[in-house]
Amino acid sequence: MAIFLRRSKFKLYLDPRKTNSAITFTLKRLIMSSCSRFEKIFDDLQTNPYFKKYANKISKLQQTNPVEFLQRIEEKERIIKKKKVISRCLKSTRNLQLSWNYSQLWKLKTIEKISAVKAYSQLASEYKYITTPIFYVNADPHIGHLYTAVLADSIARFNSMQNHIVALNTGTDEHGIKVQDAAKYCNLATNQYCNKMSKIFKKMCETFNINYTNFIRTTDPCHYDTVQYFWRLLEERNHIYKGKYSGWYCVSEEAFLSSEDLIEKVLPSGNVIKVSIESGHTVEWTEEENYKFQLSKFQNDLKYWLKDEKVVQPRTFHRILSQWIDDEIVLKDFSISRPINRVSWGIPTPNDKNQTIYVWLDALINYLTSLGYPNEKFKKFWPPTVQVIGKDILKFHGIYWPAFLIAAGLEPPRTLLCHSHWTIDHMKMSKSIGNVISPFVAAKDFTPEGLRYFLLRNSNLQKDCNYSAEVILNVLNSELADTFGNLISRCTGKMVNPMNQIPSIEIYVNNLTSEPAMKLRNNIESLGKIAQQYYESFHISYVIEAVMKTLRSANLMVEYHKPWLLRKKTDNLDIIELNSVIALALETTRISAIVLYPVVPDLSSNLLNFLNVPIHARNWCNTQPKYLNSLKSAKSKPLSSENMILFPKIKLSTKN
Ligand code: ME8
Ligand code: MG
Repeated sequence: MAIFLRRSKFKLYLDPRKTNSAITFTLKRLIMSSCSRFEKIFDDLQTNPYFKKYANKISKLQQTNPVEFLQRIEEKERIIKKKKVISRCLKSTRNLQLSWNYSQLWKLKTIEKISAVKAYSQLASEYKYITTPIFYVNADPHIGHLYTAVLADSIARFNSMQNHIVALNTGTDEHGIKVQDAAKYCNLATNQYCNKMSKIFKKMCETFNINYTNFIRTTDPCHYDTVQYFWRLLEERNHIYKGKYSGWYCVSEEAFLSSEDLIEKVLPSGNVIKVSIESGHTVEWTEEENYKFQLSKFQNDLKYWLKDEKVVQPRTFHRILSQWIDDEIVLKDFSISRPINRVSWGIPTPNDKNQTIYVWLDALINYLTSLGYPNEKFKKFWPPTVQVIGKDILKFHGIYWPAFLIAAGLEPPRTLLCHSHWTIDHMKMSKSIGNVISPFVAAKDFTPEGLRYFLLRNSNLQKDCNYSAEVILNVLNSELADTFGNLISRCTGKMVNPMNQIPSIEIYVNNLTSEPAMKLRNNIESLGKIAQQYYESFHISYVIEAVMKTLRSANLMVEYHKPWLLRKKTDNLDIIELNSVIALALETTRISAIVLYPVVPDLSSNLLNFLNVPIHARNWCNTQPKYLNSLKSAKSKPLSSENMILFPKIKLSTKN
């Protein structure tokens, strides 16, 4: 007896040698255990009037039995499932994310694309939302802005390498008096001024490989709608009331400040003025009627959120925030709108055209607008995984932001990652001192990737860091050009490696018994794990140090075995030793490049291209030495070109 069915593109076969009931039982059991859909198909089939008539004929035409048939079905099911995952990934890529492997995927040939997608979809992924603060357009970008963006970008890239679906948001903050005044100063209409400045920040992101998914502008029409929606929500939930407000207002910080935040300053004229301790800018006494947010109601919620120390990192900032939250003055209800005659460049409150929404409420909501909120799709990425901020905006992100979110019934962020500031010659960067460093100018001297490397290499989240051209020059030359670059040239140069080969590390791994080789093997075996922990705890400078340590150990191994001398010998053992040295050194560079990808994506990609590493083999799991993989390839591979210079040495003369 055979059964044939053509439905859903599958054929259903039965073994004619078995009795009907046995067939039913076997098939039902197998079908149920593999795919319940087919149980229904089988039932339908039995009621088919042609079933008995044609079953025998069909059994002769086909030669497979039910077990084989089910195997085929399972295989097809598996393919369909995989296709669904891939199309979901691709869809979300187009809509929301540009994880690094996907952003490169579109440039590949079909075959490569398929294998890359295959590798990607095999691992479970989570949605991760990473954000930078959005930049005020009142002045040009400086290296502080670049740093905040590079830090967020490296975290986003690291997450993408773990096959998570990542959205990285950045953009510009364009409303408020500060911007209004800056436009006036430049003699431009405010919207023209914003367009011009926003473009410069976007260009900064592009120049420095900030792989953002969305670049939001608070002047985007969709943001206008989201802010008004959010406002109405707060109103409906009774968190907003109208009241009189008076206090010292600091335009530079766009905030009312309490007396503890102020000091008095005597002007040369003898007049005494009040200035903000934080920014040093003057404040003005302001009295107005506006809408207030009932912040005081949220003290317990904020305390609850802060119970988990991980929500604000590093711990120093968690401590600071915890103290603020105990302070009733900080948690006072505060004004979330301004009279339109004072701040006209803003989003009006929905029900009162005489007021505009406070620029900080407006700005913070960008993190929601970017995900399409209130459209339900935002939920995939909510709450934010890591929000990178500078210490000057901790209060806004650590108190106001979670309070607004809780008030709106939304979950506050998982982690606020707070960093300190860059100083120039140990002084605060400021336009009036004239010591502001433009990232574009610095990139001319040190290259965009060089600057990314330095900012992540020489920073410490808890302490202010000093920006010094001399230090950058030394760091880049000694680490990227010498330690890393020289290792590559030593193993790929004409003299040592005339055939441009990468000998298989799987074959040669155990040939070197010297102490430097054994040390290096230990180093590369643990590098991925160590670096992962550092990335996860946001200690990126430690990641770089761990890579450098490994590369220094590789250089010691090369110096010990002297491949340039081995090449001159003809003994078989010498050739094996030579190949082993090259294989081990190049395996070290491959792993180092993958580990450093979030820091210097272009340099790493160039090196991985040179080493002929396929795109799908550049994920975090590939930081494991190849000789530890269960799937071993015994073939040597060619280098993609004759030689490469990882990072050309920067000459002092160009600096003077
Ligand atoms: O604060 N070193 O924008 P912003 C390191 N629009 N980072 C620095 C720095 C320095 N010297 N100076 C500034 C704003 N930053 C708001 C954000 S988010 C909803 C709104 C950092 O252009 C600063 O800490 O003044 C902040 O994280 C970022 O640059 C943007 O600063
Ligand atoms: Mg600022």
